[in-house]
Amino acid sequence: MNILVLGSGGREHTLAWKIAQSDKINNLFVAPGNAGTAEFAKNVNLGVNDFEAIKKLVLGENVNIVVVGPEDPLVNGIHDFFLGDADLKQVPVIGPQKLGATLEGSKAFAKAFMKRHNIPTAAYQSFTADDLEKGLKFLESLKPPYVLKADGLAAGKGVLILEGLNQAKKELKSMLIDSKFGTASSTVVIEEFLEGIELSCFVLTDGEDYKVLPTAKDYKRIGEGDTGLNTGGMGAISPVPFVDETFLKKIEETIVRPTVEGLKKDNIPYQGFIFIGLIKVDGEPKVIEYNVRMGDPETEVVIPRIKNDLVEVLQAVAEKRLCEVALEIDARSAVTVMAVSGGYPGAYEKGKEITGLEAVKDSIIFHAGTKEENGNIVTNGGRVIAITSYGDDFREALDTSYQNIQKINFEGMYYRKDIGFDL
Ligand code: AMP
Ligand code: GLY
Repeated sequence: MNILVLGSGGREHTLAWKIAQSDKINNLFVAPGNAGTAEFAKNVNLGVNDFEAIKKLVLGENVNIVVVGPEDPLVNGIHDFFLGDADLKQVPVIGPQKLGATLEGSKAFAKAFMKRHNIPTAAYQSFTADDLEKGLKFLESLKPPYVLKADGLAAGKGVLILEGLNQAKKELKSMLIDSKFGTASSTVVIEEFLEGIELSCFVLTDGEDYKVLPTAKDYKRIGEGDTGLNTGGMGAISPVPFVDETFLKKIEETIVRPTVEGLKKDNIPYQGFIFIGLIKVDGEPKVIEYNVRMGDPETEVVIPRIKNDLVEVLQAVAEKRLCEVALEIDARSAVTVMAVSGGYPGAYEKGKEITGLEAVKDSIIFHAGTKEENGNIVTNGGRVIAITSYGDDFREALDTSYQNIQKINFEGMYYRKDIGFDL
């Protein structure tokens, strides 16, 4: 088998790392990849939204499966592009078509989907510039804090949680009238604030059947104690200690199954990962958001806990025989701690030499924003390196990650020392 993984982050390094362990692999390509994937796969320097370049690669190298890491190409219709091309249509793409990707690409679409299929989520209404007055009235009917969400993709910045009514009204106007998030905020979802602890549930579906993958919890804020700006994620833990059998069953019965059934009922074809952002409110799971891909850094703890040959599992998804697969999950905990560039998630410099990687023992190094330059590995993004470890419980795993991360160095390096502090 020849497989292409699209993307360049820690998620893609992890997926490629797992795929590379399969006996079925002949050639593994990662595009564009990073310095980590270059160690065992062929990096191809192309943009994940450059469908013509991807076509050339897939046909030229006889790629048998394409695994899409980030949401962008999915929302832009890469899977539809393959299906619509006579030469590409027999090449399976792991990741939904444009319609399914709308679950992440439009919050209003996702909310309407959940409402239609009775999937528990925060109460909401959506508004455009034409009904600004109604939106302002709706805010008046709610209790603070106020949750405003740009409908479209806004690089993870489109959700505002505001304490004051006046501030919320001002932001609603700014989103709808002044295009605060460009066209992404031409529709705004206003929803009820939910109080609880968050976790993520990952599902793999072939459109008929599904498998629930291990749960994970990520740490989104830059600062310790969950303070400061939101990031892509500073660390993750799997499994989530507060998810017991009963709660997991609730998630599966009230959320996962209705989601997969809902996709079928709505004739939304879906072959790929569903990442369900959840919040536990008074013991009940509710959906915060859908993503149509794996999470990052959650992938760095979820995938290492799957014992199966991932290529066999992905083939089963492509051939719609996921029901034949029995997942085997490692009972150990896995954690990851992310080392980031100084200044991230604000402005940061790139090109800083990374040292000490060879000293890491008993952890797995997943590269995020790195590249090779004149024989050195240098920083090439905000999130730079994820250090994943196993342990009998998450604390033991964290000890190992923290021992190892101290051996790594680059100018301005920062990481949170309190991953798991709230558990
Ligand atoms: P989203 O992009 O929808 O995941 O939202 C980003 C973050 O905002 C979530 O991870 C939550 O921490 C928070 N959030 C979103 N919706 C709500 C809500 N209805 N109530 C409380 N917090 C929320
Ligand atoms: N870690 C959150 C995400 O991947 O969206």
